[in-house]
This record gives sequence, C-alpha cells and structure tokens, in this order.
Amino acid sequence: MPILFDEKDKLFSIHMVGTSYCIQVSAAGYLCHAYWGARIRELHPLDAVVKKMRALSPNTDPDDLDFSLDTVPLEYPAFGNSDFRAPAFQVQFADGSTVCDPKVKSYRIFSGKPPLTGLPSTYCEHTNEAETLEITLEDAFGGLEITLCYTAFPGYDVMTRSARLKNTGGSEIRILRALSMTADMRCGGFDLLQLSGAWARERQIVRRQLVPGMQTVESRRGVSSAQQNPFFALLSPHAGEESGEVYGVSLIYSGSFLAGAEVDQFDLTRVFIGVNPFDFSWLLQPGESFQCPETVLVYSGAGLGKMSRTFHRFYRERLCRGAYRDRERPVVLNNWEATHFDFDAQTVETLAAAAGELGAELFVLDDGWFGNRNDEGSSLGDWFVNRRKLPNGLGELSARVNACGVLFGLWIEPEMVSRDSNLYRAHPDWCIHVKGRGRTESRRQLVLDLSRSEVRGEIERMLTELLQGANIRYVKWDMNRNITEAGSAALAPDRQREVPHRYILGLYELLDRLTKKFPDVLFEGCASGGGRFDPGMLYYMPQIWTSDNTDAAERLKIQYGTSVVYPPCAITAHVSEVPNQQTNRSVPLETRLFAAMMENFGLELDPRRLSGEEREAVKKQIANYKTIRRLVQFGDLFRLKSPFEGDAAAFLYAAPDKKEAVATYFRMLGVPNAPEVFLRFAGLGPDLRYEETESGGVYWGDELLHSGLPVRLNDGDFRCRFWHFHATR
Ligand code: DGJ
Repeated sequence: MPILFDEKDKLFSIHMVGTSYCIQVSAAGYLCHAYWGARIRELHPLDAVVKKMRALSPNTDPDDLDFSLDTVPLEYPAFGNSDFRAPAFQVQFADGSTVCDPKVKSYRIFSGKPPLTGLPSTYCEHTNEAETLEITLEDAFGGLEITLCYTAFPGYDVMTRSARLKNTGGSEIRILRALSMTADMRCGGFDLLQLSGAWARERQIVRRQLVPGMQTVESRRGVSSAQQNPFFALLSPHAGEESGEVYGVSLIYSGSFLAGAEVDQFDLTRVFIGVNPFDFSWLLQPGESFQCPETVLVYSGAGLGKMSRTFHRFYRERLCRGAYRDRERPVVLNNWEATHFDFDAQTVETLAAAAGELGAELFVLDDGWFGNRNDEGSSLGDWFVNRRKLPNGLGELSARVNACGVLFGLWIEPEMVSRDSNLYRAHPDWCIHVKGRGRTESRRQLVLDLSRSEVRGEIERMLTELLQGANIRYVKWDMNRNITEAGSAALAPDRQREVPHRYILGLYELLDRLTKKFPDVLFEGCASGGGRFDPGMLYYMPQIWTSDNTDAAERLKIQYGTSVVYPPCAITAHVSEVPNQQTNRSVPLETRLFAAMMENFGLELDPRRLSGEEREAVKKQIANYKTIRRLVQFGDLFRLKSPFEGDAAAFLYAAPDKKEAVATYFRMLGVPNAPEVFLRFAGLGPDLRYEETESGGVYWGDELLHSGLPVRLNDGDFRCRFWHFHATR
C-alpha cells in the first residue's frame, strides 16, 4: 500500500508511481513537512532539518535549543507559538487569544477516500484505488482538533489534501483563517506560475521568479474569478513543457481563495492554498466542525506538460461525474452571438434546422427566452417562458428542435435576480445585501442569497418545473457578476463574514440536488465566459464555457492557459463569425475551425449568414471533428508551442498507445521572407512508423519527435496547418 508509518522515526511516507511525500512528527509532537518530490525508496529521519540551531529563533522546549518552529519545515502551522511565517490557520478562543499550539494526537490509515461534507471532492470508484492517511492534531488548552486528510491515488500519481477543524471544548471558537494546505518546500529558487487575466482574457500564463517574502494569487470577488485561478505551480528555474521539476497545486473551490508562496529567511518556500481569509470568519460552536476544501497536488519530474496530463486524466476520471463523464461531448450550436436577445420560435427552429444540416448535435437557446427579458435589465429569477417570443412554450419548442435532428439545450442564470422581476418584487430581501445600505448592481442584476435554504428551495422548485416541462438535455448555467455588499438578512451579526463561503456551500448543495435529479442532462458552467472555471464547478458540470472571447487568435491563448490544469473535454470552444464581436478581427474560417477543434468544439454563429462555400467547409470540419473527437477530448495533450512565447501556438493530441495523433500549428501574423519553421511532435512513439494522412508522408516516430516537419504555411495572417498521424506498425 502506498502509505507507510515508521513508528521508530515517526515518519509517514506516501509513495506513488513517480512521487513521494513524507511527513515527520518531531520529538515534541509537531507535524513537520519532510519531503515532496520525485519518488524515493525511503527517507531518513530529518534530524538535519528538524534540529537546527539558529540565533534568535525561539525554542518551544527550553531544554532543546536545536529545535525551533521558526526554522523547521512544517505541515499545517499555527501562529503565536513561535513560527513567524504565515500560518495555515488561525482561530480566536473565548478568552480573546489567538495563540494555538497543536500537536499530533492520533492517526489512522485506511483504504479508499471519504467524501468531504458539503463540498465537491475527488473520489475513488473502488476502495483499493486510493489510500487515506488522517492525522489529528490537538490544541488541548483551547479545545481544538485539526484533522489533516491525505489521500494517495497511486494509479494517477496524485495526492489530495484537506483539513477539518473541530471545536472539542465547551466555548465558542472563531475561525479567522483555515487554509486547505501548506507545505514548507526545502529547495528554494523556484518560479511561480499562475493563470491570471480578466473578462475575455482569462487564464493567461504568468511566470515569475520567487523572491524572499510573500507572493500571493487570490480572489476577493466571491467567485474563483477570471482575474486569478485557484491554481499555481512551482517550477525549477529551467523547467519547461517537457523537462524539469514542477509542483502543481489546485483547489477544488469556486469562491474567494488565497494561494501562493512565502520564501523565508532560510529559503524554505511555504506554499499554501485555501478559502481566502480576507473578510472571512466562521463561528464554531462546541462540537461543530469546519471542513476546508480539497487540494490536489501533482508532482512532475518531466515538465509542465506531464503535470497537465496528470491533472487532465485525474479531473476527467475522478472529479467529473455523471452520464457525460466518459462520453464524447456533442457538437453544439449556440444562438447567443447569432441573435442575442432578438429571436422568436421561428428563428429558433430555423437555426436548429441549419445546425442539424451542418452536423451539430445540440441546439442551445441562450439568454432571453424567459420572463419579459429583451435586454440585460430584467427578469432574472422569473424562470418561466416568455410567451410573446415563444407562444407555444418550451415543450413544443423542444419538440420542434428535436424534429430537426438535434437535442435541445437551454441557458439559465439561477443565482441571480433582476430588480425588475416578479421574484425580486415578492422577496426583496432574498438577495445578498446589507440592511439599510445600497445594493450595487452589476450587469443590472443582484445576487440571490444562496446561503438561505428557502431561496435555494425556490430556485430548485422553478428549475425542476422548467426541466420537467420540456425535453431539455443540456443546461448552460451562467453567473454574470461578482459579489458585493456580502451580507445576508438571515444571518446573525456575528456571522456576516461567513456569507461568501456559505453562498458557495449553498450553490454546491443546489447543484448537487439538481444534478442528481436530472442525471442525464449535460450541464455546462459559465460565468461571463470563464469567470468561474475551477475544479469545484467541474465536479457538478463536466464542461465550462471558456471565455466570451471567441476570436480565434485570442482564444488560442485562453485555451492554452486553461489547458495547464483543465482537461480539453471541459474546455468548450466555439467558432464564431467575423469580424469577431469582441475584437473586430477577421481570422480565416479554416483557422477558426481548427482553433475550436483543438478542444470541445461548437458553433456560435448564424448559419444563415454563411456563404454556400463556408457552409460546406463547416460541414466538412464538423464531420472531421467527429472522427478525432475522442482523441482530442480524451487523449493526451502535448503543448508544442506556446502563444505566450511568440507569435504561434501548436498542440498535439495523442492516443494513450500513441498509435494515432493529431497536431495543429497556428501562426498569427505573416512575415515576409520568414525563416523556415520546423515543428517537433512531442508525444509520438519513437519506435512507431507513422503515416501522415494529410500529405501521405510516412515517417518514423523518432524523426517526427526529434527532427520534426517543416510547417510551410500560406502567406497571410492567422494561418494554420494540421497533421493527422496513424501508426502503420
Ligand atoms: C455571458 C455568457 O458568457 C454568454 O455566453 C452569454 O450566455 C451571455 N452571458 C448571455 O447573457
């Protein structure tokens, strides 16, 4: 089994295929971080690390001047007991003090993995595919227990971590900070890689060298956000796509988070991630527990690409769930960019018929079908059909769409309410707000208070009626604003700082109920594009709208950055019209098609506006996509060229046995008299003989891997080239 405990040295060792993680209990009972990195057979007890005399570092045991919490690498540190670095957690006891000194009390090792109460988490299908270590720390004086949970998935080379705080005393405890994990990494000199951006520029790769002190990545928006993603990686300085050491840390959470690294005086790097402690507190009554979200840890000794592939497979198979988890995702035609709010039943039917003729499998009716909604200003919360636009209702409409040979899907935004809505008029206190203060609008809407069960109950009732009333096989669940004035009319004054986290817990509960009630519906997450593209949402919805920016040139960067953590089947990518509605740029159709074909492909255009030639090209590519869809959505991604490091991008998807692969190279601006570009196809099998079907060429894999092929593109901007390799032996 992967988890061992050495009683003599008080050393826990977690060994997987390529990774080891070790934790040691000090003589006084402190939990020390001993190792995380490439698999090793055994770790010797860390006297050198745990015992380290340093001038001016305090000693918890006056008789052991070699031991100081200020200098040792720790696993889940407190504050106030002489470690001066940022703690993993902080609580305030009834006496007002915030000093805490937890020591190891007990541990247990068992097969399988328990779910996390109230939170999305990874899972095992059979208890023998994972093993869990639970270590309980105790601060006896304050009556606080902390249970750290480590699960090893040896078959995936992935470890998960989480923490649970329990009030075991007789008085109230206020949690001020409760991160999901920290670990003090011994080797310094790392780079920090994060996925940052904005609306329409989500998840751009940013890499910087760590310096002494704090470096953080965080969201204070109530959602994981387009601005930062709940993920970071530490990289050895020369690590690249296919070489070097990479430590990836991803948080299964959709709200405000804090992540980062603190490099201390001795070059120990404390990494951390969890619910953002900023403007957060949580009252824990005697006997109550607080569960922190789960973190997923991936070590790669072979670059960022291997880390991504590990995350992809693990998230695809052990985070995503439901009927669509392993199924090829349907080709969608979404009407948003085609019509915005301006459509009627006839338009819908015409678009659905055209979608079917092109080979699309699902028609999605976006915003504007409900209440009195004709623009952004009204009706959110009134989830009944707009009879002026769709006089015969959704039941009849879905049947008409189905008659065109495509499934019917619908957009909703259930977490929101417009001031101009029946729901708001009936329940003005059901939105997030602070009594007596103004309610800031964003996109002319307010956020419903999902911390309240009666609010969740009413949303569930409306959506159940909606989904039962028509043949709706797909739901696009949108969320178009961040949270301001974070207060709840239903919570006591001393619990108001619990609202953002309670909102997320309420959202998860609602999603849990709805996805269980409608197990055959394909749910797609969305938040003004990719404003909440995180593992928490992926647990409920196996795919997410990646960005409102559908310009292929921009989109390649967004897709490339998103693929650092998230699997291609989750990354939806639609072909839209030119000039593009976000950038006003005109990218050739072929390039738009191939850019979308490198992920979960769909259309976001009005087929009536396509020329005959364009229609044929789209039809042909949809047919082509269906032949490579499994490879792209469920294959192994190799990023061959980064759009963040030049004017080109390239991707390769290989089957697990490497016998089939597709690759695409995209060049942005054309250059006169340009040098010859060769593309090397990482991911192919060196000993396989491949036929490239586009050109008919036959090559050994080692030539393709190491020498590559010339790209040779036509003149002009935004061109691409596609290769399809089949092993002949
Ligand atoms: C934002 C989404 O990202 C878009 O795709 C579209 O659904 C609009 N909302 C509709 O209001």
